Amino acid sequence: MKLSNLVGAIGLLSVIETSVAYPGMGKTVTEIKAREPDNEPPPVLIGDIKDGGTTPIGKTIARILLEQESGESMEGGYKVPGLLGTQKCKKDTCCTWWYIARAMDIVFRGPSGRCNKFARAAVRLAFHDAGTWSQVLADQGKDWGGADGSIALSNSEEFRPENNGLQDIIKKARVWQKTFGVGMGDLIQFAANHAVVTCPLGPRVRTFVGRKDSKKAAIDGLLPGVNDSADKLIKLFQDKTISPHELVALLGAHTTSEQFFVDPKRRGDPQDGTPGVWDTLFYNQTIGTGPLPKKVFRFASDIAISQDPRTADEWAEFAGPGGQDHWNEDWAYSFIRLSLLGVNNINQLTECTKVLPMPRKTFKGAMELLKNE
Ligand code: HEM
Ligand SMILES: *[C@@H]1O[C@H](CO)[C@@H](O)[C@H](O)[C@H]1NC(C)=O
Ligand SMILES: *[C@@H]1O[C@H](CO)[C@@H](O)[C@H](O)[C@H]1NC(C)=O
Repeated sequence: MKLSNLVGAIGLLSVIETSVAYPGMGKTVTEIKAREPDNEPPPVLIGDIKDGGTTPIGKTIARILLEQESGESMEGGYKVPGLLGTQKCKKDTCCTWWYIARAMDIVFRGPSGRCNKFARAAVRLAFHDAGTWSQVLADQGKDWGGADGSIALSNSEEFRPENNGLQDIIKKARVWQKTFGVGMGDLIQFAANHAVVTCPLGPRVRTFVGRKDSKKAAIDGLLPGVNDSADKLIKLFQDKTISPHELVALLGAHTTSEQFFVDPKRRGDPQDGTPGVWDTLFYNQTIGTGPLPKKVFRFASDIAISQDPRTADEWAEFAGPGGQDHWNEDWAYSFIRLSLLGVNNINQLTECTKVLPMPRKTFKGAMELLKNE
């Protein structure tokens, strides 16, 4: 069957499914969707692993980006080989990262065991560093930006309005970089993965280091606006090789977030009823079919993506039963892709997931809604 016919047929089946849902029909649709999720083309490879990778690590990352291998891992049991700064420690790339992770253990966790404002800011910082990359511009020779640390190294990106609120975490990143002598691009992406697994229910995302830093400011205008249309947002992310369903997964970061600058009169208002917890309540409350606490501040961009026909199905799946595992899995794939945008030495990276803390499912004072740390 020609692709256009197939797409048409799936569209028709979806209509039938919702209008006359009878047993058996739904299953066929689900099966077709499983093969062609949301009618999307398959994920593409990026950077120096466009041909599938030339080294074991490059091939592993390629399989993760193609969603053939999990982006989550429970690998642990790391025995730190020596004190920070010693030869023994320097010989093992992950040793220094073990010490960095222990510093972050203290900084990212609030008193009740939820992830705190530094953790939230770290996740946003990683997006605002890595997200400044465009395939179209890269093809025109403007292949800079991305996960290169320039948000903290350029001395100009941090003053852009969209980076308002990230100043404190940028300061911390600079201190960590000085103390531990690692790359800024790596540090920022590592911090996000640490922050996410610190949030109760957060996935333990496979974590790679070895990126090249750049002081050159990223091209302006490549980050999304809160009032942008769904179409503009979907296209903006597709130009970063991030598909509509991956965008839906990444937007789940707003499960833990708070806003300060969209409506300054409502400073600190969260985007769901459980800030600091990596649950799927954000997806549910953005759709708005359940009870919505007064304090919850929904972004126009999130509502737009939750309703667009290209993204609404995935959004509802994350909101519904079984959504948590599905979302964690998709977050991992999607975040690993985001965190490697603009990186052209993926074949030379090292995996240091084993130094991250283990995921947690509990915290004190269960569901103390809307009290932030
Ligand atoms: C359509 C795309 C997106 C838009 C329009 C958007 C917009 C925003 C806005 C307006 C804020 C509040 C800033 C403030 O007023 O303080 C925010 C916060 C946040 N965003 Fe997004 N965002 C998008 C995608 C993402 C993605 C892809 C991630 C992560 C992968 C992310 C992570 C966060 C986090 C963690 C915060 C909370 C920061 C904090 O609490 O300090 N966002 N976002
Ligand atoms: C987005 O729209 C709201 C409501 O119209 C407005 O108050 C706000 O200033 C806009 N924000 C941006 C960044 O354009
Ligand atoms: C959201 O949660 C509420 C309350 O549990 C529930 O009634 C509603 O059906 C949920 N919405 C979706 C889209 O899953």
